[in-house]
Amino acid sequence: VSTELDAAQVIALLGFGPGSREATYVEELADEPPAGLVPLSSRQAAELLDQLKVSPAEAADVVSTLPDPERTPAWWWCCERAAGRLLRAMGDPDARRGTWPSFEGPDHDLARRCHFVHVALLVAPATVSYFEGLGVPPGLSWSALDDVARHMAIHRRVFGLTGMDAAWWVTLCLRGEMVDLGRLQYNRFNLEVSEESPVWYLPEEQEKRGEGFRKGDPSVGVHIPESGPLLPALVSESLEMAGEFFARYFPVSQRRVATCMSWLLDPQLAEYLPEGSNIVSFQRRFELVPGGYLGDEDVLQFVFRSPAGVDLETLSQKTTLERAVVTHLRAGRHWQVPTGWLDLPAA
Ligand SMILES: CC(C)(COP(=O)(O)OP(=O)(O)OC[C@H]1O[C@@H](n2cnc3c(N)ncnc32)[C@H](O)[C@@H]1OP(=O)(O)O)[C@@H](O)C(=O)NCCC(=O)NCCS
Repeated sequence: VSTELDAAQVIALLGFGPGSREATYVEELADEPPAGLVPLSSRQAAELLDQLKVSPAEAADVVSTLPDPERTPAWWWCCERAAGRLLRAMGDPDARRGTWPSFEGPDHDLARRCHFVHVALLVAPATVSYFEGLGVPPGLSWSALDDVARHMAIHRRVFGLTGMDAAWWVTLCLRGEMVDLGRLQYNRFNLEVSEESPVWYLPEEQEKRGEGFRKGDPSVGVHIPESGPLLPALVSESLEMAGEFFARYFPVSQRRVATCMSWLLDPQLAEYLPEGSNIVSFQRRFELVPGGYLGDEDVLQFVFRSPAGVDLETLSQKTTLERAVVTHLRAGRHWQVPTGWLDLPAA
């Protein structure tokens, strides 16, 4: 049934506004061949959700809204094609990401909020097989998907509802580009080619710095998931693990620097945070690339889980960082998101 639908019918059935991001998502998916996937039974879905460490209450919501070609053909149509798009991009950091709309918050019903989790369930076994095919141990292969539960937990914390925060980000994990190694996460990409490439050196500087810095050179992105303090010992341990992991499973024959593009690297933070703070110690590990982009939105997002334009007076002022963010913005100053880089420890 589902394969007979066209984009316009799916858009109408799901109530997406014409010209909306959601409608663009459907139109892009219409260009994807159906992936020939079989819907998951409730039991299969529940088992997978358990392996993905999703909480039982959230898992029940996800299972209760599983798409079905007969009952919910438009959702199944989206799910199958979105999963197919991810499966075709497996392990390829240069594949275009495409549009992934946001179904976050109370404006969306439960089926919508669970859509990306349904997609994740169709893809997750293939992600694990991809890593295992490279010889990565099962424990590490599964933990590469920890962002599914982590981003569901963030959605619950922000909205008190089952759903997935920043689904577009989780697609990188599902495509087998991201791994969790101890405290940090890492993704493979090619400088200035992959969509995940950060703000980088100008061409003359790339040439001057040579191998490892030039357009197209393989690189590793460093990411900091929300999971407890950024203790320096844990960061060192994770960087060691990454040095070994990438040398072993994704070897390259040239220098490969690790980059980090984050509000956490804004040097202005050191004006407010004590010398011994974890963030300041993390910053010291990286050499900064000139430039970056405006970081107010990222800081509000990661410190307060609040959108840009929020009334600063309403924000909590409990921690040193929260007070710093508000003081800085009230003074009419702005935060930056720079790129930093470092060499991973040799394996
Ligand atoms: C990265 C992170 C773990 C650092 O936390 P940390 O290890 O506590 O960092 P520090 O030791 O440098 O903290 C210094 C101060 O800032 C506070 N702080 C740090 N991160 C904070 C955050 N996200 N929200 C509120 N306060 C925070 C700490 O509580 C501490 O204040 P206090 O001494 O008054 O208690 C934390 O910011 C975090 O979880 N961020 C979300 C994920 C993220 O931003 N990833 C990067 C995406 S690009």
